[in-house]
Amino acid sequence: MSNFEGKVAFVTGGGRGQGREIAVEFARRGADVAVVDIGTDIASVPYPLATQDDLEETKSLVEAQGRRCVARIADVRDQQALDSAVDATVAELGRVDILVANAGIYDWSSSPLWETSDQAWTDQIGVCLEGVWRSAKAVAPHLIRQGEGGSMVFTSSNLGREGAQFSAPYVAAKHGVIGLMRTAALELGVYGIRVNALLPSTTDTKINDHQTGWSRASGKPDATREDYLEALHVWTVLRNTGVIPASAPALAAVWLSSDEARYVTGIELPVDAGHLTLPGYNPWPARG
Ligand SMILES: NC(=O)c1ccc[n+]([C@@H]2O[C@H](COP(=O)([O-])OP(=O)(O)OC[C@H]3O[C@@H](n4cnc5c(N)ncnc54)[C@H](O)[C@@H]3O)[C@@H](O)[C@H]2O)c1
Repeated sequence: MSNFEGKVAFVTGGGRGQGREIAVEFARRGADVAVVDIGTDIASVPYPLATQDDLEETKSLVEAQGRRCVARIADVRDQQALDSAVDATVAELGRVDILVANAGIYDWSSSPLWETSDQAWTDQIGVCLEGVWRSAKAVAPHLIRQGEGGSMVFTSSNLGREGAQFSAPYVAAKHGVIGLMRTAALELGVYGIRVNALLPSTTDTKINDHQTGWSRASGKPDATREDYLEALHVWTVLRNTGVIPASAPALAAVWLSSDEARYVTGIELPVDAGHLTLPGYNPWPARG
């Protein structure tokens, strides 16, 4: 895959999970990297979000690749915080070429839409949809001013294409990300800036890896992590693949941002072990 030497990537939600994998993969391939993360919890989200220490750990991992890293606490719902993080990136690293708008939350409230709280709706849409728009809004003027094109990857989900019970705000936000991506690809194409969406399926990160996530995925109230991993096999078609590792969507995000993908814009790229090809639940679990 392309060398990213001389390029700077800006990754939201870079404190851990897919965002960290993406940041380190860019660094491995020669890019300097900026990472932002919230560094505090959100009350409607029933699992902890990344901490300042997590963000510092990502910075160390990027620097261990011999690359520079700007790490900032910023909530993607806060335009001023994002603008200032992008300004700091350009001041310290000289430019910005790539955005991966990856930050996201899942509320796990198990509520049908008519019982979804206003707060859960506002937080999910705020982080998963508005946060992507705000991230693009912060980065686009710099890419346009530089005049050398660029790339944006917006993280959606398989739930950007499917309904899912008890997940109305998340599903609405992730569908919205695809519409936003299509519009951004049209508006920014004239500047040579490509915009694509990444659609991971269930990925082995802390968004899912807790008791509530294990129980919801497996349908067992006292599920173990093993029950959750086992249950996920019915979601995929590839043998011995249920939950996918964070490195899988990370590699796809880096490829979408690379010169190899220079004629790719306006697409939705599933990284889902075939999940979206299934007509429904797989009656033949993809294992063994
Ligand atoms: N893991 C999955 O199963 C899965 C599947 C499809 C899509 N996704 C999407 O992939 C992306 C990455 O998630 P992940 O799997 O790495 O989970 P994760 O929870 O490990 O990472 C998400 C990161 O976003 C950060 N974040 C949350 N709210 C933020 C805010 N307001 N401002 C800044 N940062 C914020 C979190 O602190 C965390 O570091 C998310 O957009 C998620 O919706 C995940």
